[in-house]
Amino acid sequence: MPWNVVLMGNILEEWLEKAISEGHIDYIEYNKFTDPIVIGIGGFGKVLKYEWRDNELTVALKCLKVDTNIDEKIIKDFIDELKLLRTVSCHPNFIRFFGVTKDSYRHYNMILEYATEGTLRKYLKTNFARLQWTAKLSIAKEIASGLLFLHNKDIIHRDLHSNNILIHENKPKITDFGLSKQINEMSKAKTAYGMAAYVDPKYLDDPKYKRNKKSDIYSFGVILWEISSGRPPFPSFDSEFKLAFHILRGNREKPIEDVMVRRK
Ligand code: ADE
Repeated sequence: MPWNVVLMGNILEEWLEKAISEGHIDYIEYNKFTDPIVIGIGGFGKVLKYEWRDNELTVALKCLKVDTNIDEKIIKDFIDELKLLRTVSCHPNFIRFFGVTKDSYRHYNMILEYATEGTLRKYLKTNFARLQWTAKLSIAKEIASGLLFLHNKDIIHRDLHSNNILIHENKPKITDFGLSKQINEMSKAKTAYGMAAYVDPKYLDDPKYKRNKKSDIYSFGVILWEISSGRPPFPSFDSEFKLAFHILRGNREKPIEDVMVRRK
């Protein structure tokens, strides 16, 4: 492993250890978690579902292993945003952050609330036919409420899309901002495109553009379109790069008919 990766890993570990010892982040022994099942792959490794003995909770553990080329700035931002996770975690439309644990490989893992129905994208695919407009509106309002809470704290998500909004008992929960966002950005090999359909076109045009609250609102607009149409935006594009160019030429998804009727 290159020396800078080892060093950055150490900085992250040292910071986490300090935050734990000062009582800012809870540490829970790994042997409290049982029955692991892999539920996804994050930028740094697998995401597993566990049963948390003692308090009968199902949780998701996300690995924080540092094994990619990573620069100091990213680790610093990463730590700054972890500090914010604690504040945001109390809002009903965010995935709760319970603390950290060290798995059997001695890697730190974030302990997160488990969302029973998975991502909003999957939820819409499975349930769209039976969803009434009131249910769609309620999902939209709750995402807006979470986003407003974030923006009132001057936090910008920067990576809002239907795969990092999770559904738990029919309620949307925003996740993957801050720490996870940094992880995902690193694993995306530094392209601006990520999920191009949701990305502020100003940032698609210029990756040096500093994303702001309006960038999140653009992403939210695309999510509203997805909730009303029941399908992901621009499904025919197999390349994020080509989609980015399509969007930069001014193309947008078409409004959904029922939405138009309702607005009369
Ligand atoms: N996938 C990633 N994180 C998750 C979570 N907290 N709950 C369910 N699925 C997930």
